[in-house]
Amino acid sequence: MARKGIILAGGLGTRLYPMTKVVSKQLLPIYDKPLIYYPLSVLMLAKIREVLIISTPEATPLYRVLLGDGKQLGMEICYKVQDKPNGLAEAFIIGEDFIGEDPVCLILGDNFFHGQALKKMLLEAMENEGATIFGYPVKNPEDFGVVEFDEEGKVLSLEEKPKNPKSKYAIPGLYFYENDVIKIAKTIEPSARGEKEITAVNNEYLKQGRLNVKVFGRGLAWLDTGTPSGILKTSQYVEMVQSRQGLYISCIEEIAWRNRFISTQDLLSLGKEISSTEYGKYIMELAKDDLKNPRKS
Ligand code: DAU
Repeated sequence: MARKGIILAGGLGTRLYPMTKVVSKQLLPIYDKPLIYYPLSVLMLAKIREVLIISTPEATPLYRVLLGDGKQLGMEICYKVQDKPNGLAEAFIIGEDFIGEDPVCLILGDNFFHGQALKKMLLEAMENEGATIFGYPVKNPEDFGVVEFDEEGKVLSLEEKPKNPKSKYAIPGLYFYENDVIKIAKTIEPSARGEKEITAVNNEYLKQGRLNVKVFGRGLAWLDTGTPSGILKTSQYVEMVQSRQGLYISCIEEIAWRNRFISTQDLLSLGKEISSTEYGKYIMELAKDDLKNPRKS
């Protein structure tokens, strides 16, 4: 059973108006690439090859232009429309046929993750049964789903944007579920804000004793792209790390190649298509180095 991936990239983006009046939020640039590259790369790091992108009626065709059918990355990418932002849990209902009989990972199209521990934690979550979500300490937990633990790390409660948060641990927009999430999502009633809440889905797994919560430590960056200053700071973070290390964050072509989804020749061709940019040069450099000194299979 190969776990499927869903990127939810809809919503009205009203908090970023006028920037998002005509452009979908997840297409805005974070330094040198569209925002959606970052969550896509997280799914790819988890070795997920089949991805569904869900967005608004207006923006979905644009994502298709950007990422096509995924073949260039050795993946399968397909698209579905969410007519209205009815809540995150609707992703599993819209994605029912795509998910089929498989387990699934949902990532929100505006979530940015980076850090050394990430890949290991993703690969562990891929193996888990039930549901796996994460906790991350933040200064403003009231703006997120919040998880409360006891001293032994056992989950006591999950709350969506509580006025008085019981802990500082926010729940990032990255969720792993078994196939029965489709059934559970269908039973969720809209909340007071009119949305099928993901926290209600997670509460159901908690009730059934099938919820794993892993804590992301200090070494991992989960950054906010929900405000103009969040977009700027996340861009600065990407620029700083890339220019210091000479290694790119969320270069989807590189990850596809490192995962062996594509060959070195494929990588070279992808670089050549955008060879006038630093991004393209970086990809070509990776390919050329490997042609000189091939990686071991
Ligand atoms: O970012 C993590 C947080 O995401 C979690 O901690 C919360 O538990 C979860 O409810 C969610 O909180 P937000 O209220 O911040 O989510 P927001 O409504 O901003 O939607 C997140 C992204 O998903 C956003 O880019 C728009 C998109 N979206 C949202 C909804 C409700 C959709 O594509 N469709 C939707 O129906």
